Amino acid sequence: IPVEQIRNFSIIAHVDHGKSTLADRLLEHTGAIKTGRDKSNQQVLDKLQVERERGITVKAQSASLLYNYNGEKFLLNLIDTPGHVDFSNEVSRSLSACQGVILLVDANDGVQAQTVANFYLAFGNDLVIIPVLNKIDLPNADPERVCHQLQTLFDIDPSTILKISAKKGIGIDKVLEAIVKTLPSPPVDRNAKFRALLFDSSHDKYRGALSLIFVKDGTISLGDNICSAHTKKEYEVKSLSLLRPDEVPVKKLVAGQIGLLGCNMRSSKEAHIGDTIHHVGETVEVLPGFQPLKPMVFAGIYPMDQSQHIHLRNAIEKLTLNDSAVTVEVDTSPALGQGWRLGFLGLLHMEVFSQRLEQEYGAEPIITAPSVTYKIKLKPTKQLIKDGSDIIYINNPAHFPDTVKIEETFEPMVKATIITPDEYLGSIISLCMERRGVQTNATNIDNNRVMLQYDLPLCEIVLDFHDTLKTLSSGYASFDYEDSGYQSSNLVKLQILLNGTAVDELSSIVHITKSQTIGKQMVHRLKDIIPRQMVQIAVQAAIGGKILARENIKPYRKDVTAKLYGGDVTRRMKLLAQQAAGKKKMRMVANISLPRETFIDVLKK
Ligand code: GTP
Repeated sequence: IPVEQIRNFSIIAHVDHGKSTLADRLLEHTGAIKTGRDKSNQQVLDKLQVERERGITVKAQSASLLYNYNGEKFLLNLIDTPGHVDFSNEVSRSLSACQGVILLVDANDGVQAQTVANFYLAFGNDLVIIPVLNKIDLPNADPERVCHQLQTLFDIDPSTILKISAKKGIGIDKVLEAIVKTLPSPPVDRNAKFRALLFDSSHDKYRGALSLIFVKDGTISLGDNICSAHTKKEYEVKSLSLLRPDEVPVKKLVAGQIGLLGCNMRSSKEAHIGDTIHHVGETVEVLPGFQPLKPMVFAGIYPMDQSQHIHLRNAIEKLTLNDSAVTVEVDTSPALGQGWRLGFLGLLHMEVFSQRLEQEYGAEPIITAPSVTYKIKLKPTKQLIKDGSDIIYINNPAHFPDTVKIEETFEPMVKATIITPDEYLGSIISLCMERRGVQTNATNIDNNRVMLQYDLPLCEIVLDFHDTLKTLSSGYASFDYEDSGYQSSNLVKLQILLNGTAVDELSSIVHITKSQTIGKQMVHRLKDIIPRQMVQIAVQAAIGGKILARENIKPYRKDVTAKLYGGDVTRRMKLLAQQAAGKKKMRMVANISLPRETFIDVLKK
């Protein structure tokens, strides 16, 4: 297919606005999949089990479609993007291989926070934007209002907005036509030396890491010797395929095409997103890569007991092969033993990861309270000045330095966008204030909807901000955020003591103004969560030597069957067995057994 007949595009949308449904429709209309397929198996592009369950797209998937328009054959490369705030970085990397996007907006819900964020991502990348309203079949759909919002916010001409129903298959041809007519073909050169952009990777049991590449120039063929511009490592091309959306093996890929490359890379850590691939022995100009994914939330992960260490390690290794956004470092804890510290893009990403550990590998690890990365400037000492290392970054409260050594502390901030109906404005503003937010902008996007922009500390939003916002607004407010660097902030280490022994796994780094409240909440919750023991337990929260809060847990009798009179042996055995099973799930910390849930529950709601 000539370059002029190729189009590369993405669909960008707020969660649930119908991106996957539209993608399926496009596949059907171009004959890539059969119509009327089993309903339960819809949304072909959402492959992972967790995605099905949670209804969110986690890993970007792509497909090549063949479309006949006015007797000419076009190759449309659809690059699917994830639709949740945690994954906005993945959206931007998928966009780098596109010339245009379909900006899909629910005609009932209207413009939402991610619509705004996604619009600016596409706009900032100079991409052609095809505005499309979806779900016009819904009785409450109000296309006029939503067109007006798009005009107010983004200066989009309402007459250019397509109106479709992905579910009912209405207007799909118009979308395909708009892709062909309004998007430019990719700026590629088939006669130049081969170079390709590696923009995503996945892992295959038998073939190792598979890279999704966009061929910018030249041709790549089976058996070619290729080289990574980033690592300088050399590989032989073992497999090439198109995604239609199932893999179709091919012998070569030419400039303008998107395909899957297999070259015996062991892990996706070798497949660097944004890398340029070229032929061995040739020098090419490196393609503009993009910012690497930056983990925002860190948590310790430990096996329930050390006998499961190897099993857990294998599971983590396998999962991270497929998800190069997760960072892994070895970590040890006095109470929990050998484990790892993992970095995630956000809390949802962390939950998806631990859910996959359980579902796909049967691993049930202990996961500690999540933390963000803080920046600390240490008081100058001769040694530090000599090493030039007076700035440290920590995401593990256990590594927080002694207060006397600290000059200044900084915390990561985000720029948040919230869109909400008027009636929830009051409670949302209170929520943002309680989370130490500073309002930077408020705009009416129509008669009864407002867009708010806030500078917020990342640590205040990672845990439950999104959920709280949804609850406060009966689900109507939407939220998105982007990273905005570090800001000076008065931080302290809040410790939890059990009978006088500090439990580092339960400690956290908090803003000074929050320490009292959080300390009280923590001990209160721990009192509820920690089961009674043979001895009394004092639960205390402290900063340095100063105790902020205390609760006591009264002692308890050990033999759960003692209170049963009569001699029903089987019942007695059953109870003892239950108690033993319960024990297995405990960890001994400071001579006190803690249920594994304690560590994650304590910081959750
Ligand atoms: P993420 O993958 O989480 O980003 O969601 P998505 O944007 O891919 O949304 P998805 O395609 O999963 O659709 C969300 C819901 O909207 C599903 O229940 C769809 O059946 C429904 N839906 C999609 N398109 C239409 C439409 O045109 N009309 C109606 N009534 N419902 C639709």
